[in-house]
Amino acid sequence: MTTVNKLILGDNLEILRTMEPETVDLIYLDPPFFSNRNYEVIWGDSGEVRSFQDRWAGGIDHYIAWLKERVAEMHRILKPTGSIFLHCDWHANAYIRVEILDKIFGYGNFRNEILWLRTTNSGSSKAIAKRLPNDTDSVFYYSKSVNCTFNKIMRGHGEEYLQRFKYKDDYGFYRWQALKTYSQETYDRLEKENKVRKSANAKYPEFKQYFHELKGGVSLNNLWNDINAINPMAKEVIGYPTQKPEALLQRIIEMASNEGDIVLDPFVGGGTTVAVADRLNRRWIGIDQSVQAIKVTELRLDKQHDLFSAPFIVQLHKYDYDTLRHKNAFEFENWIIQQFGGAGNARQRGDFGLDGKMPDNTPIQVKRSDNIGRNVVDNFKSAAERSDKKLFDKNVANGKPVGYIIAFSFGRGAVEEVARLKLKENIIIELVAVNKIVPIAMKPTLTIEINELDRDAKGVREIEFVAKGASEAGIEFYSWDFDYNAEKGFKASVMIDREGRQTAKFKAGLHSVAVKVVDNDGLENIEVVRLKVNGTVERQ
Ligand SMILES: C[S@@+](CC[C@H](N)C(=O)[O-])C[C@H]1O[C@@H](n2cnc3c(N)ncnc32)[C@H](O)[C@@H]1O
Repeated sequence: MTTVNKLILGDNLEILRTMEPETVDLIYLDPPFFSNRNYEVIWGDSGEVRSFQDRWAGGIDHYIAWLKERVAEMHRILKPTGSIFLHCDWHANAYIRVEILDKIFGYGNFRNEILWLRTTNSGSSKAIAKRLPNDTDSVFYYSKSVNCTFNKIMRGHGEEYLQRFKYKDDYGFYRWQALKTYSQETYDRLEKENKVRKSANAKYPEFKQYFHELKGGVSLNNLWNDINAINPMAKEVIGYPTQKPEALLQRIIEMASNEGDIVLDPFVGGGTTVAVADRLNRRWIGIDQSVQAIKVTELRLDKQHDLFSAPFIVQLHKYDYDTLRHKNAFEFENWIIQQFGGAGNARQRGDFGLDGKMPDNTPIQVKRSDNIGRNVVDNFKSAAERSDKKLFDKNVANGKPVGYIIAFSFGRGAVEEVARLKLKENIIIELVAVNKIVPIAMKPTLTIEINELDRDAKGVREIEFVAKGASEAGIEFYSWDFDYNAEKGFKASVMIDREGRQTAKFKAGLHSVAVKVVDNDGLENIEVVRLKVNGTVERQ
């Protein structure tokens, strides 16, 4: 069963291939559009370009082939009741429909080409000199079969409908409507509220119908011109290039899935799909090849999460040494044995320190520490022999390991003892370092410098914070929480800061500022600066 809620760093083709068939209910993908552009974010003072590329050396055929093999995997993992929404634009939409979706999902499973009016009058004057602005994107909607999940969606009455409500009073915009059926009690209430009138030449009395009281809305068609692209000042802006509006994903997820269903976005980017799916009580999986995308999505989810939100995991390429070192011992044993290809003990029990076994029952011991000594090897040998003498002797006879000891590192004594056992007694014990099983790295270090800049008449202090992160992998970005509350966790007030320099104003009192640094492996570290602002600024 596919683990959810999960953010996975990596090339989506590789990851999709590891997923079980028919396990996902809804897929929304927003891949690079074949726009032959790089979506760049100027990075740090080196001006290094970073985010994602949308350039295809082999032209449209290269792009279509690249996307097709991914969509084929998506078709395989979709449930028979599932649907897919593929977001694209004029650059490749025709090729995508004919060469990919019709071929993989079948012409008969085409549902809609949703035209999203992304903007108005896009394109530079030069670009639209001899054509119309391309203001719409296409979202192709296909289902896996005719028995797909579909919830009828109504859309709100749009701006143009509001025009019909010409009048305004303290309650809002209204129009006069004929009051065809009513009780005397209703009529008296409306009259008291000054919301009814009788005019000589009207067959019925008329009542004030308010725009904001309208129910239902209008049934939705495939032209979506009521959802604007994200306004740069909007609360949901996270600064990720090509970020889509949450309203767009809300409509798609509500239309083609139900609570508890699994929603997948294999090009998750700034995390719009999974943020909305999470809020709509769907389970979800988000994949992206960019560390920045995965980490920004993690920060976005942390920001909207509260104590009752469903937990999620982030799967990066590398694991942080400190996090593993301090993980719950039993959890760590089972996890690392699983990564090693074995099975951990179901219960934490004192069976001579044997924590699990390989498929051929060869025992495994895990030590969540460094510099393992000779005594561990001695104890393990006798425990392995005592736990299954027959297997022990058979492995010795066949020149196979009698067991495996997994630890972060081994001391000289242990290495020598293992060598002695092999040489003198033909007993093979394998010492396996954790970083041989999973890629480990040290999380970035982080220091914070503060400089008091100014103070206004009311004693409000302006303080500059300078974060310095260091990591072998290089620094990806910093993130800031200027009102940090340890119970609530890190809630980014500045999501992506490439420089590591911020200023903020503080009234008199105690304040906590938390800074996160993320390196290019996606590993992070956090520092909390506690300030006492009174006559002076004191760092606690
Ligand atoms: C257009 S953006 C998605 C934006 C997203 N819908 C949002 O609202 O923020 C496309 C994303 O696809 C990712 N991407 C491109 N090729 C990929 C691949 N082979 N595997 C995984 N992610 C990929 C890029 O890193 C980028 O984040």
